Amino acid sequence: MAEKEIDEPSGVETTGHSWDDIKELNNPLPRWWLIVFWITVAWSIGYWVLMPSWPGINGYLKGTRNHSERANVTEAVAALDAQRADATRRLLTAPDMQAIENDPDLQAFALAAGESLFGDNCATCHGAGGQGFKGFPNLNDDSWLWGGRLEDIRQTLRYGIRSGHENAHLSIMQAYGAGGLLPRETVDDLVHYVRSLSGEEHDAAAASRAAPVFQAQCAQCHGTEGKGDQSQGAPNLTDPIWLYGGDAATIRETLWNGRAGVMPAWEGRLSEEEILALAVYVHSLGGGE
Ligand code: HEC
Ligand code: HEC
Repeated sequence: MAEKEIDEPSGVETTGHSWDDIKELNNPLPRWWLIVFWITVAWSIGYWVLMPSWPGINGYLKGTRNHSERANVTEAVAALDAQRADATRRLLTAPDMQAIENDPDLQAFALAAGESLFGDNCATCHGAGGQGFKGFPNLNDDSWLWGGRLEDIRQTLRYGIRSGHENAHLSIMQAYGAGGLLPRETVDDLVHYVRSLSGEEHDAAAASRAAPVFQAQCAQCHGTEGKGDQSQGAPNLTDPIWLYGGDAATIRETLWNGRAGVMPAWEGRLSEEEILALAVYVHSLGGGE
């Protein structure tokens, strides 16, 4: 290298680099910068000693603290499981379902578990908030096909409805028209009768022609006043809540072709405590009896 060149105005040595006559000065690094730099170097050496750092061919340098994120997660999961196991045991040993609702901690546990189970297993058919769709009952209202007490809901969940399980709820709404049980005109008259039960617009003459038919054919399930029967899953026909629909065309379709909605059985697919948690959750949705 040539003679060291000193920049005149500043008196600082230059590096000899020059661009368009602008020269680079060879100032020392600032002291604060150097201090931070050496601290980081010391820190990294300390880190290699203590914590897992360099990869090797058969594993990695573990460090003297033997730290492992994986072990920490396993430990946290085990602790959570232990905590849950206790709540689960209390769910399963509660003397009856009402006792679960009477214990605020246990109820909160059941509701949280029930809500996530509902999202995973039930929302596809019943809607995210249990609001239901045509043919899939709304679980938020107080109109129940098969009963809205905790025990009823649990029973429905366990065995399902027309699910093929031997304990499932079974009775069906027959195909009165297509099955040849009633003549076409009688089915048409019955549509008016059914609409009269909930105070909907109807032909009074047709409804009164159908009244005796209703008592003879329908009352055994839907009741003499049409208020339904939960032991047979027969809907109340006097309220404005419809499973399939209360317009004349839908009622006619119901009477003509019959209805037999299927709700799967959950016994075997979900554990006993999951079914309990779900029953408590569904019961809490607003319409529990
Ligand atoms: C494949 C669709 C489907 C899935 C999934 C499903 N259900 Fe249902 N569920 C139905 C149908 C359809 C009915 C009505 C059956 C009938 O017509 O009687 C029903 C009825 C019910 C009833 C009875 C309502 C009443 O008024 O008595 C409850 C309670 C219920 N479901 C809760 C659940 C819960 C909780 C889950 C999740 C574990 C679930 N369902 C999953 C289709 C489904
Ligand atoms: C064996 C019992 C039984 C008899 C008898 C019966 N039903 Fe039903 N009915 C049911 C059941 C169960 C359902 C619900 C079907 C389902 O959940 O899929 C139902 C549903 C209905 C519905 C649909 C209600 C809604 O919310 O959409 C109407 C309407 C109805 N029945 C009218 C009648 C009429 C009219 C007769 C007489 C001709 C009759 N049922 C006879 C059991 C019966």
